[in-house]
Amino acid sequence: MGGSTQDGAERIHIYRTGGLAVPLLEFRGITKDYRLGKTVVRALRGLDLVVEEGEVIAIMGPSGSGKSTLMHIVGALDTPTGGTAFLDGQDLQQLKEHQLVALRGKKVGFVFQTFNLVQTLSAQRNVELPMIFQGIRKGERARRARELLIKVGLGDRVKHKPNELSGGERQRVAMARALANDPEIILADEPTGNLDTESGTPVLAMLKKLSVNDGKTVIIVTHDPDAAAIADRIVRLRDGCVVAVSSYGVEGESGVPSTGCDVDGSINEPSTLGTTTEGDDSHA
Ligand SMILES: Nc1ncnc2c1ncn2[C@@H]1O[C@H](COP(=O)(O)OP(=O)(O)OP(=O)(O)O)[C@@H](O)[C@H]1O
Ligand SMILES: [Mg+2]
Repeated sequence: MGGSTQDGAERIHIYRTGGLAVPLLEFRGITKDYRLGKTVVRALRGLDLVVEEGEVIAIMGPSGSGKSTLMHIVGALDTPTGGTAFLDGQDLQQLKEHQLVALRGKKVGFVFQTFNLVQTLSAQRNVELPMIFQGIRKGERARRARELLIKVGLGDRVKHKPNELSGGERQRVAMARALANDPEIILADEPTGNLDTESGTPVLAMLKKLSVNDGKTVIIVTHDPDAAAIADRIVRLRDGCVVAVSSYGVEGESGVPSTGCDVDGSINEPSTLGTTTEGDDSHA
């Protein structure tokens, strides 16, 4: 997997841009401050991340390292405090709120650890929800929702409500919902965090297939080594910085420590691969 990433990204690059190098996602020197009264929490400290179309990226790191914050910015749910953030050639910081809403409605599909399904609605209605916001007509919504539920292996569960489904099935409904508007990017924050290995495996297989078969870009925040194993690249965060980038190949995980980021002098020692242990990550 690791060896082919470079070439694959290159090919997709050329296909998308006709030879001009414009990555799907380009974050440079991203900072994010949360203000709580007089206290400022600097959740991201000058983070760099470039993602090509069709890649599967795993974001790993200890609790509080900024993973969810990063995902919120990638998904246009929040804007950075500083740095430049381009998504599909658009400068996120220049967009007005209604433009961000439109961007995430069309380009981004979200999958959460806790599934976030509406309990009173059937699987089919849950999948239809994002299409309502895009103004898709009822008949078309129903047709497409059923098609997506078949795609995630739940063609015989369309009328079930979330509490009539297993955890793994709920997460697959959530995946069908994430695909409702045919987004370019799927963002999954701990998609297998509440699942055992048996239910998590099909969820991961589907995320991988979305990249390989459909050319979707998939970004997964995870503590799960099985989820990291489907990624083309593993990006490790610590204290709001990228500290290492690696990939799984035939010889196991290999990669390079990043130079980290240093906007206020506090982070300048990149951690070496392997010192960011899974033990650090396994709070979930
Ligand atoms: N809305 C907020 N207001 C203030 N501080 C916040 C807010 N959201 C996150 N933080 C802080 O920013 C830092 C990064 O949080 P974030 O949620 O991105 O971490 P994480 O890597 O996703 O952690 P976890 O693995 O526990 O989910 C933490 O120190 C957190 O306390
Ligand atoms: Mg988080």
